[in-house]
Amino acid sequence: MQLDINGLAYEIDISPQLPLLWALRDHLQLTGTKYGCGKGLCGACTVHLDGQPVRSCQTPVSALHGKKVVTIEGLSEDASHPVQRAWKQHNVPQCGYCQSGQIMSAAALLANNQQPTPAEIDTAMSGNICRCGTYPRIREAIRDASG
Ligand code: FES
Repeated sequence: MQLDINGLAYEIDISPQLPLLWALRDHLQLTGTKYGCGKGLCGACTVHLDGQPVRSCQTPVSALHGKKVVTIEGLSEDASHPVQRAWKQHNVPQCGYCQSGQIMSAAALLANNQQPTPAEIDTAMSGNICRCGTYPRIREAIRDASG
């Protein structure tokens, strides 16, 4: 399979049915993308596919033909994306496990809508679950990073 990940072309020998999550973590050692539920329910595995947020645990690598994947490792150099800066400023993470997925969803939202309303933020982030309940800080950070 040929994969375009974070601007690099990879050729790896994997089943077309393998979920992208495992291609990233097990074959490319891009472990910033997390395994939470494996069922498309938690959002921990969120990456960008041609700029849209997708759940990598539910995306077979066969669906990637001709498409560009961006993971948390490729979002910026040195964590300087506006969403990452806002995350640091607001000390968003608690345990941190879900946060790469949260950041990828937030970055996709702001790429498509630079000034989302609070309701649009809630809708865009509703698929990303945080067991520590960092939602108020997530909302604040997205508001700061917007517009
Ligand atoms: Fe993919 Fe939970 S691990 S949505």
